[in-house]
Amino acid sequence: MSQYQIIKEQLLEQPKTWLVTGVAGFIGSNLLETLLKLNQTVVGLDNFATGHQHNLDEVKSLVTAEQWNNFTFHQGDIREYSDCQKAIKGVDYVLHQAALGSVPRSIADPLTTNAANITGFINMLQAAKEQGVKSFTYAASSSTYGDHPALPKVEENIGNPLSPYAVTKYVNELYAGVYARTYGFKTIGLRYFNVFGKRQDPNGAYAAVIPKWTASMINGEDVFINGDGETSRDFCFIENTVQMNILAATAAEESKDQVYNVAVGDRTTLNDLYSAIETALKTQGVEVKGELIYRDFRAGDVRHSQADVSKAVNNLGYKPEFKILEGINKAMGWYIVILKS
Ligand SMILES: NC(=O)c1ccc[n+]([C@@H]2O[C@H](COP(=O)([O-])OP(=O)(O)OC[C@H]3O[C@@H](n4cnc5c(N)ncnc54)[C@H](O)[C@@H]3O)[C@@H](O)[C@H]2O)c1
Repeated sequence: MSQYQIIKEQLLEQPKTWLVTGVAGFIGSNLLETLLKLNQTVVGLDNFATGHQHNLDEVKSLVTAEQWNNFTFHQGDIREYSDCQKAIKGVDYVLHQAALGSVPRSIADPLTTNAANITGFINMLQAAKEQGVKSFTYAASSSTYGDHPALPKVEENIGNPLSPYAVTKYVNELYAGVYARTYGFKTIGLRYFNVFGKRQDPNGAYAAVIPKWTASMINGEDVFINGDGETSRDFCFIENTVQMNILAATAAEESKDQVYNVAVGDRTTLNDLYSAIETALKTQGVEVKGELIYRDFRAGDVRHSQADVSKAVNNLGYKPEFKILEGINKAMGWYIVILKS
């Protein structure tokens, strides 16, 4: 039996109370769904900056009424310390996901990104330490590898950040280290590599590549590739990310005060990604009409990204269950329903 399976059975037997910040967002709402289905008690905190009520409504439709009653939502802002204190009362495990994502957003508006991602982060960290929670797991980012050329990416070798967003995520790691050394409060940072799956927002200027392209293809619009399409990423299906959060939250003390890559360990070019989405849509009955158009490279983007996930495998028992193609097929099923209705 996998470590994930073992932990899920333990949680079912002895339910815990979790705080998920950013619960109305993509990753947060998927964490919420899994935790409620495991009969956990969940407190959510979100200010709807980029998250949506419809994500919470969708989760409600996917769990039983009894499971939904185990969920308490606080509309609040992590930039306000009192909002963090209120939400964290009585919580065992914190999964801190709230932040402003997107490299281009941070380049356009570094101050707002800084406030949510750094002030908001230390507020949550301090509130968690003060409350004495059992564990604090936070969303770090592969952007912390910056301009370091080595592939695959190994946790200890990072370069210079290439965007304000990358700085904020690196500062999270620095604060986490300081809290461990200064106060003995040990946390786990999860360096997500391009996560994708249901409920990832296809709308807005800062939509991620998979939802943005999928929406364009379903709507019969052109798709734009930044650069020559040979830029590559380690695309990670949401279920693998959920698994890592649950493994990290319940990890032994000796596996804490660490950061872990969260990915699959594969690399897919944007050209191959386009073909994979196109094939999955066609297989599921969608006619793809738009053109594929190449344009300039985008500022702040790293050229290649691929994770070495062996640290998570060895320390936490991580076993990525979904490779990219399987994930793409599942995600497309969801986007077709949402975008065609
Ligand atoms: N999706 C990815 O590929 C990826 C990659 C690396 C890191 N991350 C990190 O994972 C986390 C979740 O990302 P996501 O993809 O689900 O994004 P998302 O935008 O869907 O979710 C973020 C959520 O945080 C909320 N939020 C933002 N600022 C807030 C504030 N001040 N107070 C309260 N809530 C606030 C938003 O409303 C939203 O619901 C973020 O920390 C992000 O930086 C994501």
